[in-house]
Amino acid sequence: MGRPQRDDELVVEVVDLAFGGMGVARDDGFVVFVPDTVPGDRVRVRIRKARRRFAEADLLEVLEAGPARREPPCPYVPRCGGCRLQHVDYAATLEAKRAQIREHLARIGHLPDVDVRPVDPAGEPFGYRNKMEYSAVSDPDGGLVLGFHRRGRWDEVIDLEACLLATPRGNAVRDTVRAWAEAAGMAGYDQRAQAGQLRHLVVREGVATGELLVTLVTAPGVEDLVDTLAGPLAAAHPEVVGVLHAVNDGLAETTQGLPTRVVHGRDRFTESVMDVTLHLSAPSFFQTNSNMTARLYERVSEAAGLDGGQVLYDLFCGVGSIGIALGRRARHVVAIDIVPEAVEDARRNAAGNGLEGTYTALCGDVGRVMTEHRGTLPDPDVVVVDPPRGGLSGKAVRRVLETGAPVLVYVSCHPATFADNAARFVEGGYRLEHVQPVDMFPQTPHVEAVARFTRPTA
Ligand SMILES: C[S@@+](CC[C@H](N)C(=O)[O-])C[C@H]1O[C@@H](n2cnc3c(N)ncnc32)[C@H](O)[C@@H]1O
Repeated sequence: MGRPQRDDELVVEVVDLAFGGMGVARDDGFVVFVPDTVPGDRVRVRIRKARRRFAEADLLEVLEAGPARREPPCPYVPRCGGCRLQHVDYAATLEAKRAQIREHLARIGHLPDVDVRPVDPAGEPFGYRNKMEYSAVSDPDGGLVLGFHRRGRWDEVIDLEACLLATPRGNAVRDTVRAWAEAAGMAGYDQRAQAGQLRHLVVREGVATGELLVTLVTAPGVEDLVDTLAGPLAAAHPEVVGVLHAVNDGLAETTQGLPTRVVHGRDRFTESVMDVTLHLSAPSFFQTNSNMTARLYERVSEAAGLDGGQVLYDLFCGVGSIGIALGRRARHVVAIDIVPEAVEDARRNAAGNGLEGTYTALCGDVGRVMTEHRGTLPDPDVVVVDPPRGGLSGKAVRRVLETGAPVLVYVSCHPATFADNAARFVEGGYRLEHVQPVDMFPQTPHVEAVARFTRPTA
């Protein structure tokens, strides 16, 4: 049989779960990716996209269900583009995530024999997200739709009554904003026509503190209208400590880097992790699963092995949380992040948690800041890196290698870039001792892991 063509219908057996959440089937050795399937499924599919080496297909019918298939608890699956693994038994998602790290290390990093440990499961597989970003559009009857994009569609949004990944507090705030916007006659945003008013709603939450920070992203010209939101929100949700208004007059559907003003309260909220109180400004990154952050940082702490006498570098530090949580067992902490507000937060957080005098926070690109400060910073004993999905740049890898730190802890949120960076560190003389995955993102294909590298001292 030849290669499948677009619109061909086939019956295939799913044998694996790929990174990204697609089931992997083989048809005469040819790989077919099918969403919403699990290993062991026998399914009828229609080819949507045919490439030279693989194809993507739409699921038409499950003929026989694999052992890990389950009924998705959320009624928006599979329309919603948010979760990809709700139809898979939780334990099977953990095994798949572990296997994906192994597979990426072997294929991309040429590191086939790494000790990748069983994934630490999440305490709460639902209701764990402390940050939600909703899109707003108008429906044909003039009502406001506030929710997530329909899977694969940039121009369609699904109205959400409840998201199972959001917290009850976060869901309630979204509903209040929708009711207020509808009562105020606020239009959602039409991306095709580049017209309308409300574009996005961002709700962030300190899970331990109960504090909420709400940001409305709108087109220009609705300042007076937005000012009227503060009253209803504060009355319905006293735990909202700040309401911010960001204006996006551009084409890009972003919530970041926009001119922002405070409508009510303050422009930051607090969260608490491992007895560390953290101030978080709106533009600063923080792990989206607060409860599992403590587990993640415990794993970082184990991998770092600090005993009080060492210099710790916390690279890609965000609001400084890792360096501060571990810093009580370090002689000095050097923290670097590229977002100025995050670095300000890190300085404030270090001082507020008793690290004044033993904490240096620097702002800029990790590779560039380390180049500029060559020879002037204390040499690290332990380097922790926690980069965004793109991983470390070549320059950042070289600067870390130059430090000669005996221990390197890599916190990864993307197995492919981690595998590539890991290979660079191994070439540079480090040994990859183990990888400990931690499930920060249940129901989704995202994979978080903590890796310990050591360097034999001469
Ligand atoms: C995955 S977050 C980690 C934050 C923090 N370690 C935590 O646990 O919350 C990645 C951080 O890297 C920062 N960042 C992104 N690119 C950077 C770069 N080139 N140089 C320095 N920091 C960068 C982001 O601002 C973000 O705070």
